[in-house]
Amino acid sequence: MRILRRFIIGIVITALPILSWAAKSECVQCHEKVTPGIVKQYMEGAMAKNAHLDCSICHGADHKSMTDYKMAKMPTTETCKTCHQEKVEQYKKGKHNLAWFGMKSQVAWHSIPASIGKDGYRGCSGCHKMGEKGLVGAAQGNMGAISHDGGKEASEYRYGNAQCDACHTRHSFSKKEAQDPRACSNCHMGFDHPQYEMYTSSKHGIIWGIDGNKSDGRAPTCQKCHISNGDHEVVTSWGFLGLRIPTKENVLALIKVAPSLEKQLTSLAAALPSGHYVDVDDDPEWTFNRALILQAAGVIDANLQPTKRFVEIVAQGRAARGPDEFNTLRAKMKKTCNECHSKDYVNDFFKASDTTIKEVDAVYAKAIAAVQGLYKDGILAKPKGWEYGPDLLQYYYTKSGIEQDLYLIMLEHRQRTFQGAFHVSNDYMHWYGWAPTNETVTRILEEAKRMREEFEAKQKK
Ligand code: HEC
Ligand code: HEC
Ligand code: HEC
Ligand code: HEC
Ligand code: HEC
Ligand code: HEC
Ligand code: HEC
Ligand code: HEC
Repeated sequence: MRILRRFIIGIVITALPILSWAAKSECVQCHEKVTPGIVKQYMEGAMAKNAHLDCSICHGADHKSMTDYKMAKMPTTETCKTCHQEKVEQYKKGKHNLAWFGMKSQVAWHSIPASIGKDGYRGCSGCHKMGEKGLVGAAQGNMGAISHDGGKEASEYRYGNAQCDACHTRHSFSKKEAQDPRACSNCHMGFDHPQYEMYTSSKHGIIWGIDGNKSDGRAPTCQKCHISNGDHEVVTSWGFLGLRIPTKENVLALIKVAPSLEKQLTSLAAALPSGHYVDVDDDPEWTFNRALILQAAGVIDANLQPTKRFVEIVAQGRAARGPDEFNTLRAKMKKTCNECHSKDYVNDFFKASDTTIKEVDAVYAKAIAAVQGLYKDGILAKPKGWEYGPDLLQYYYTKSGIEQDLYLIMLEHRQRTFQGAFHVSNDYMHWYGWAPTNETVTRILEEAKRMREEFEAKQKK
């Protein structure tokens, strides 16, 4: 029925292109000579083969000759939406749509040469172009809900506004390709998010490989767990950074641990949601350790109050969830696991995996506290133009070896610990995650001690 409806909509919208198809459209006739590869791939895809839709449904019909090709339009999700409304609406609600906004929210990105981070779609922009351009947030003074510039930023780029082609690459636009975990692997790999490597080294991925890369086999694919039933709203409970918004109750419980901060904590709690995270331990010490991490990322300030970065990255960019959304997503994920595993098996899995975040945060917090101490005592000075020190979001532009190490734990080792746990990759979780976290923290503590002694010796002279 859906396909039939889409087909009818397609006919209404593109009556002309379809009629001219039987005789091969002008676009196709000429492009068989100009770009034969594109024509071949498109003709083998479902939109040409089954629905006989012409090139002009996406590129318009203004360009007709060998020389006026700058008149050809490049599609956006709005173009796809005329026929695939439901998929586009789901997509817009999920995290992928925020990828461009998220990239730009990073202070370090603004220091990266354009050819490395922005132009030509390699590096950051190559992976993040699947996000929508033109979303307006705190950087442009909008502290409320995210808004849109109406196409201004997108118009600065001739290419790279199609988004959907991240998984359904042109010009096949295939469903089967998008159902394969390899379709995710150009982005979800490597340094800070090696989900593809973790998956392929887990029993799930291994069985997928042995059984011939089937999307509906004995073992789940990425899509089975993250795009279940074709729902394009892609988002998880903990997200990329293993963050969650602390609850009112979490923060008020800290007053007992740190009574001197009562005023700040009460004020912070007033801005937070109430509730409880399913499976997650409410230990106040963990809340405190996470506060240090958020401080080092400049998301809350020295007085524990939310900053502009909190608004831009956490609220508008949705880097962390509140309890209601977290619990809903968790329940949905468990339901998928429950198709092949028992409820208790799955509950044990999640309790243990969530607790890896607690353990790794406790180790990491020691290193952060040590570096914060160096700033407080004047042993490290805040570089000119920086708002925070230490600042994890300066990435590899930090000015000292000790802060480079601190950043590596944040983006590489800590990530792999919990991402490896969730993706059932024992090696990533332990030897590429937990082990280097501990090694690096030891190095940081030793270096902090050395710097402090050197500083004190200089003061004495
Ligand atoms: C008479 C030949 C001819 C016809 C007819 C034609 N094109 Fe083209 N088209 C070209 C040439 C030549 C180029 C440039 C190719 C190149 O740079 O290698 C081009 C480029 C394009 C581009 C890429 C533009 C860019 O800036 O990268 C698109 C998209 C395109 N054509 C779509 C269409 C569509 C849709 C139609 C039918 C409405 C069509 N073409 C009809 C010859 C033609
Ligand atoms: C004019 C209507 C129309 C537009 C515009 C359109 N599509 Fe389609 N699309 C269809 C129809 C109809 C089908 C079903 C074809 C069939 O019957 O198999 C389809 C099928 C698909 C499929 C499934 C292919 C498969 O292998 O089963 C994908 C993926 C897809 N479209 C992506 C896109 C994307 C991405 C865009 C925008 C860049 C887009 N479509 C624009 C009408 C359209
Ligand atoms: C072109 C690169 C690219 C491809 C291909 C891609 N992703 Fe993503 N994905 C991203 C980026 C970038 C983000 C982070 C978006 C943001 O900034 O919020 C992301 C976010 C996610 C998230 C959300 C994590 C969270 O924060 O909760 C999941 C889950 C995800 N992707 C799964 C997939 C799956 C499954 C596939 C393949 C079917 C896939 N992605 C294909 C780049 C990609
Ligand atoms: C379902 C939508 C859709 C249809 C139909 C479609 N294209 Fe495209 N086309 C795209 C997308 C998406 C891009 C990438 C645009 C970008 O990067 O912004 C693209 C880019 C192009 C480009 C320039 C980029 C490159 O790889 O060289 C050419 C040339 C082109 N299309 C030709 C054609 C021709 C010829 C046809 C018909 C045989 C056709 N297109 C049909 C969606 C479509
Ligand atoms: C992260 C990868 C990814 C991106 C990006 C993506 N899709 Fe898909 N798409 C999939 C997967 C996986 C399926 C197969 C779902 C299933 O198993 O039913 C699919 C299926 C489809 C289908 C076929 C539906 C059917 O059952 O016939 C259409 C149409 C489609 N997508 C359109 C889009 C459009 C439009 C966009 C852009 C808004 C988009 N997709 C972006 C992964 C993606
Ligand atoms: C068996 C189900 C399953 C499979 C298969 C799977 N994931 Fe996940 N994924 C999860 C779970 C569970 C989480 C953590 C969810 C949470 O936060 O509660 C997760 C989290 C994520 C995240 C957020 C960051 C993180 O790693 O914790 C991304 C991105 C992601 N997965 C992408 C992928 C990609 C890409 C693939 C395939 C290469 C994949 N996943 C395969 C279950 C799966
Ligand atoms: C190889 C592809 C790739 C490159 C290169 C890349 N990213 Fe990402 N980025 C991703 C993926 C995939 C995710 C989602 C991972 C996850 O959820 O585990 C992501 C997540 C993010 C997030 C987190 C969004 C959130 O809300 O959770 C930010 C911010 C970000 N990237 C910024 C950048 C910046 C800035 C650069 C360049 C310095 C960059 N990325 C380079 C693929 C990439
Ligand atoms: C489509 C079926 C399917 C789904 C869905 C599924 N799994 Fe599995 N899982 C399997 C199979 C098959 C195995 C291999 C069984 C064995 O080790 O004997 C497996 C193994 C495991 C293992 C043991 C791996 C090892 O190295 O011993 C864990 C843990 C696991 N799954 C967790 C999960 C979680 C958590 C989810 C949901 C996020 C999930 N699975 C979803 C089929 C599935």
